[in-house]
Amino acid sequence: MKIVVIGGTGLIGSKLVNKLREHGHEAVAAAPNTGINTLTGEGLAEVLKGASVVVDVSNSPSWDDAAVLNFFETSTRNLLRYEAAAGVGHHLALSVVGTDQLSESGYFRAKVAQEKLIQESSVPYTIIHATQFFEFLKGLADISMVGDKVHLPPVLFQPMAADDVASAVGKVAVGSPANGIVEIGGPEQFRLDELVRRRLATLKDSREVVADPDARYSGAKISEKTLVPGNNARLGETRFETWLTQSAATGRAA
Ligand SMILES: NC(=O)c1ccc[n+]([C@@H]2O[C@H](COP(=O)([O-])OP(=O)(O)OC[C@H]3O[C@@H](n4cnc5c(N)ncnc54)[C@H](OP(=O)(O)O)[C@@H]3O)[C@@H](O)[C@H]2O)c1
Repeated sequence: MKIVVIGGTGLIGSKLVNKLREHGHEAVAAAPNTGINTLTGEGLAEVLKGASVVVDVSNSPSWDDAAVLNFFETSTRNLLRYEAAAGVGHHLALSVVGTDQLSESGYFRAKVAQEKLIQESSVPYTIIHATQFFEFLKGLADISMVGDKVHLPPVLFQPMAADDVASAVGKVAVGSPANGIVEIGGPEQFRLDELVRRRLATLKDSREVVADPDARYSGAKISEKTLVPGNNARLGETRFETWLTQSAATGRAA
């Protein structure tokens, strides 16, 4: 089966392309540096010829409110238009658990807009809502600075390894479109501030992490369960300590 992975050179995309190829599929990594740009439409008609499935795991290079909204709206519109013309039978996009409750955040308004375009299009689809990736914990600290300290609300948090995200996305990609949302998450629950504090300690990053009930997540106020998936979520296998050991051994942790 020919599967085009938009953002196929990124964190999730590169792992996904490898896994699909290991399972005998023709997986094509699509990104600006492979000649395919969803913002401009460059290369899309050509790469979608004969494709059964398109998986969109791209991300905006800029997270400024206007830039990220433009990225997800323009890219998704272009993709869906070219997919409909090429007869693609399944559009799969990766989004985030709790997206619909995070609209105070410019990034999440853009993800909501992306999801709406997909749901309104004629192309059969699946939207995967994943929890945060372990690889994103340092990035989460970086976007949560107040002065020289990291401020995070002590809410429930159930992140997962990028490798488990890619495996779950791959399984959905080779199945039938759900025409709905599928949730995936990690095998353990933590407190958000606690896990970021642990991650920074392993990186010997001396920033203090403050448990602040009024702190925002990516600009949005959140409650106890906003970031955790529902009971029907498919859970990854990799525990946080196992991931830490593996990523320290390979030196690949972000
Ligand atoms: N971070 C989290 O914890 C989390 C949790 C749940 C869901 N997600 C979602 O997961 C998705 C993937 O995240 P990621 O961390 O794997 O992303 P990433 O590593 O930043 O990769 C982004 C990919 O998008 C490509 N791209 C950028 N501009 C493009 C364009 N104009 N046309 C085509 N491709 C373009 C990039 O190509 P170049 O490298 O060539 O620029 C790269 O391959 C995102 O949609 C995000 O919302 C993230």
